[in-house]
Amino acid sequence: MAGSQTNWGVLLELTGPGPKHEQLARALRKVVRGLEDGVAVPPSRQLAADLGCSRWVVTQAYAQLVAEGYLAGRTGAATRVRRVGGAVTAKQPVRAAAPRYDLAPGLPDLRHFPRQRWADAVRGVLTTAPHTDFGLPDRAGHPRLRRVLADYLRRVRGADPGDVVICGGVTDGVSRVCHALRETGVTRLAVEDPGWTRLRRVAAGAGLTVEPVPVDDEGIQVSRIPAGARAVLVTPAHQFPTGTVLSPRRRAELLDWARDGDGLILEDDYDAEFRYDRRPVGTVQGTDPARVALFGSVSKTLSPALGLGWVVLPPQWTVSGHAPPVVDQLALAGFVDSGGYDRHLRAARLRYRTRRDRLVEALGPARLSGVAAGLHLVLHLDRNAAAVVRAAREKGVKVTDLDDYRATPGEPALVLGYGNLADNAVETAARLLREAAG
Ligand SMILES: Cc1ncc(COP(=O)(O)O)c(C=O)c1O
Repeated sequence: MAGSQTNWGVLLELTGPGPKHEQLARALRKVVRGLEDGVAVPPSRQLAADLGCSRWVVTQAYAQLVAEGYLAGRTGAATRVRRVGGAVTAKQPVRAAAPRYDLAPGLPDLRHFPRQRWADAVRGVLTTAPHTDFGLPDRAGHPRLRRVLADYLRRVRGADPGDVVICGGVTDGVSRVCHALRETGVTRLAVEDPGWTRLRRVAAGAGLTVEPVPVDDEGIQVSRIPAGARAVLVTPAHQFPTGTVLSPRRRAELLDWARDGDGLILEDDYDAEFRYDRRPVGTVQGTDPARVALFGSVSKTLSPALGLGWVVLPPQWTVSGHAPPVVDQLALAGFVDSGGYDRHLRAARLRYRTRRDRLVEALGPARLSGVAAGLHLVLHLDRNAAAVVRAAREKGVKVTDLDDYRATPGEPALVLGYGNLADNAVETAARLLREAAG
């Protein structure tokens, strides 16, 4: 295995298309995927000497992998491998026992998946769908679900859904659009910093260079999108993970940026259904459908295991790929059409709001932000977040360091997901976490 004693120059093969730093980033990605969390990569000067290239090539490749979340870099310290819920490789050791209290963000309440109503919806499809629905599927999705979702997005998200394409979720949708961007010659994608690491990796996997852009309490700082980036990935309704809403001023700036530079806005609308203390904000897509690709899924409302999502594309864009199984698509269409989805969302909203209130109360006088919406919040700390994550883990509580979502480390903070936290575990989990945070 690679480590500090290894000659990395031997492991890294610089081949394939693109300039040297892209070739190196590709080669590093492959090697780093097989390494344990925390392994140091060689200093840039040393690797440059091993490879016989300039140090600039190495620093560019490292910066790209930091932006994508594969590496963590701190000024004055070694750059290290970072494994954040990444793909489990065969080389990884068996994982430690699952934590008793899992506050990692990402999941809705799996205990409340509407099993009976979903079973009814599937049975409805199997008993009433015309035999023609069992023929070759439409790659863009079944026309009925596309129509039903267009109505839903218009009604609930203020979107302007001319053309809805069904996909496997936001990740799948973003991946498809990133590939389409790459095919049209776009090479750089601006992303929010902090932001969801998985989507950065997906963009990098499609061959785009990821450019982190800082977020403040108004959302992405549009003026800092690098010149030359022709596409930007944002979470306007509920920035992940800080929880801010893109301010009206920044929304206008973002649209101006897209119009002036012929840019595309990728709008990740991942948990827009859950608002507690503020009015829902409509999509940016609804304001200018020609400039925005809108992504959503049922991963936060029902379950990520269904693998059902959608993309609304500007008229001039097309993406390739296959829609999920037709029976599942039609089940979702029936569920939405019958009003079952709306009822499920109303009950879920109430449940999450109550749980959020209890968690906030149980965390006591902690400094919190991003509490008004969604299924997670941010807990600000006075001490090193990684140490608190470790101390919490020892007490059986899994929490996430906000730095895991940052390209550049910042103020110490944790992201606490409460979507899948059992109601009877809220107070105990919060107490243990308070003890861990000291
Ligand atoms: C920021 C963000 N976007 C999108 C998603 C949903 O992705 P998918 O629909 O691929 O499950 C998540 C889920 O955790 C998320 O945190």
